[in-house]
Amino acid sequence: MASSYDTYDVVGIGFGPSNLSLAIALEEEAERLSSVFFERQPSLGWHRGMLVPSAKMQVSFLKDLATFRNPRSRFGFVSYLHAAGRLPQFVNNQDFFPTREEFHAYLEWAESQLVQRPVYNAEVVALRRPPHRAAGCVEVELRRHAHAGGEWRILARNVVISTGLMPKLPPGVERDQRVWHSSEFLDNFRAWDGGEIRRAAVVGAGQSAAEIARFLYDEVPGAHVLAVMPSYGYCVADDTPFANRVFDPGAVDVYFDGSEPSKRAIWRYHGNTNYSVVDDEVIQGLHRRAYDEELRGTRRLSFLPMTRVRGVKRVADDTRISVHSLLTDDHDDFEVDLVVFATGYDPMDPGRVLGELDRHCLRDEAGRYRVERDYRMVTGPELDCGIYLQGGTEHSHGLSSSLLSNIAVRSGEIVASILEHRRKGVR
Ligand code: FDA
Ligand code: NAP
Repeated sequence: MASSYDTYDVVGIGFGPSNLSLAIALEEEAERLSSVFFERQPSLGWHRGMLVPSAKMQVSFLKDLATFRNPRSRFGFVSYLHAAGRLPQFVNNQDFFPTREEFHAYLEWAESQLVQRPVYNAEVVALRRPPHRAAGCVEVELRRHAHAGGEWRILARNVVISTGLMPKLPPGVERDQRVWHSSEFLDNFRAWDGGEIRRAAVVGAGQSAAEIARFLYDEVPGAHVLAVMPSYGYCVADDTPFANRVFDPGAVDVYFDGSEPSKRAIWRYHGNTNYSVVDDEVIQGLHRRAYDEELRGTRRLSFLPMTRVRGVKRVADDTRISVHSLLTDDHDDFEVDLVVFATGYDPMDPGRVLGELDRHCLRDEAGRYRVERDYRMVTGPELDCGIYLQGGTEHSHGLSSSLLSNIAVRSGEIVASILEHRRKGVR
């Protein structure tokens, strides 16, 4: 374990799939770079609050932590299946898309294979220029659980920020025992002690909303599930081959080199590969349930189309959602025992850990961070360390920035860039 002011070539902030992929790329690189990764959770956890049974991956198993960078890597999904003794059965499934549970098990397996494991229960709270101005370094300030040693400071020649998406709620909505964001769904559901769930509302029309509506309908037999959606119905995620090319490694170059109008066009035409859309299979399953109810003359699953939730009211012990219909312009309140806001996420915000370094990170005319093709932030001359981003680069690198599709290749590009800067004598 590092003592205070140990110096590393690479410090990874956050240990989700992106930085796990980076740790693998570092381990497979012939040229040695010292590294350490910090994760605030107590163990590896990939969107655990949404690990609902039968939820499937939205990316091919071949877009794993390593294969697109190094098809011979021992960290690939196929190696995992082999080690788990399930390779033939997996192939017999004839399905590119494993469950999220299986992919989570793969991530845990890959982490367990690393020579150098990450440090858990360690939250990076700020970056700052080191007090003694150590050349080419940045100081990393950490908060660890008291039993793990409290505060800790180290020096890094390069930091790689990969702190993930941030849950988003409608303005003014605050979480409580009965008001949840989808990101915490399963944890809260398992810990629920709010009595019988007779009526639950699920807000949104994306993948999270559809999976949660399906889960509540299936798992809480007496509950009425009200899906409040801004669209007329769930829209299908475009997973067709030509559209899917937008996630290819080469698409990052096209996007990065593209004009602002071309970037906007890519989002306009291809945002429906990922945002506010749902897998065909899940849509079919929900519709089948609704149809079967019509057949039986029961009604536990209902839909409020073209409707947005404007707020939540707490009246004594009651929880009410205030909705606005885009069809009739009417405003209405619905009493619920539980409301789950599956209202999406904001992109990663590096500013949360940059601290005082933020002012040395240059921005474009629109106020967005300037990031090089190699994911290195453009900084003022007074900052001579490397700050890399895995996430938060939708404006510069395109749609795959927050997704798994390109993490193996991106991690390889970051390692190559760090080595290249070292060779040139620049951190
Ligand atoms: P991720 O969010 O996974 O990890 C960030 C980590 O940083 C977290 O573990 C967090 O605790 C830690 N952290 C944050 N701040 C910290 C700090 N200050 N100090 C230390 N640690 C800190 N994409 C896709 O391509 N295919 C898919 O199937 C899915 N499925 C999917 C399901 C669900 C429910 C969601 C919400 C999202 C997806 N995604 C997806 C998109 C998702 O962004 C992607 O799968 C990865 O989580 C991206 O990995 P990262 O490591 O970048 O972020
Ligand atoms: P999302 O795609 O951003 O969808 C959010 C939904 O909430 C949209 O329909 C949005 O409508 C709606 N919404 C926002 N505010 C609202 C309001 N006030 N009232 C009513 N509706 C409102 O978010 P997500 O479904 O959480 O998906 C996020 C990412 O996670 C995606 O990449 C997705 O693929 C991924 N994911 C993957 C899996 C899986 O792998 N199985 C599971 C879940 C999520 P507008 O668009 O009109 O704002």
